[in-house]
Amino acid sequence: MLRVAVMVSGGGTNLQAIIDAVQAGIITNTELVAVISNNKSAYALERAKQAGIEDVVVSPKDYENREQFNQALVEKVDSLNVDLIVLAGYLVVIPPAMIDKYVNRIINIHPSLIPSFCGTGFYGLKVHEAALERGVKVVGATVHFVDKGTDTGPIILQKAVCVENGDTPEVLQRRVMEQAEWILLPQAIDMIANGRVKVVDGKAVIA
Ligand code: GRF
Repeated sequence: MLRVAVMVSGGGTNLQAIIDAVQAGIITNTELVAVISNNKSAYALERAKQAGIEDVVVSPKDYENREQFNQALVEKVDSLNVDLIVLAGYLVVIPPAMIDKYVNRIINIHPSLIPSFCGTGFYGLKVHEAALERGVKVVGATVHFVDKGTDTGPIILQKAVCVENGDTPEVLQRRVMEQAEWILLPQAIDMIANGRVKVVDGKAVIA
């Protein structure tokens, strides 16, 4: 049974997709052990409570400096004894020490087809604003392992989504969530839970 912690910062629609997928048997062999947020007001924490999952807040605001926050976060995650950490709309930089401890055991959902529209400053609506500004006709989402870069780890799954005439950033974001993010993240977790994802020479290979 894969023990999973989900890290969130906002509304938690990706978390909800994971919760629903476990309950529907789309994600197998998996236990959602805890939901961790940097933001005590994140609605994602309410979603966790409603699903009976432990909700945890580790906020940078509660610590003197980033170093102390980082240490507290790693200690909390370690105490949960999880196999996989899922970043689902988590907007705080993951401490390097955590990435060293959980090599290829942290995954992230990014709302673009990496390497497009990713890296520092590309998150949430900003990704879709940039895509519309560039005039691309196809966008999508990517699930990848987290390394010390920003959106640079081995790509596990991607799914394309069409841009439509008249799209606003909000409309496009919603379509990418519905047609890509909420499908890919549960799919990736289930594949990992069933030993179907390996990293070979820095590339994720699906068995
Ligand atoms: C979404 O844009 C998602 O692509 C990104 O974080 C944002 C918030 O997602 N990873 P959620 O509704 O909090 O899951």
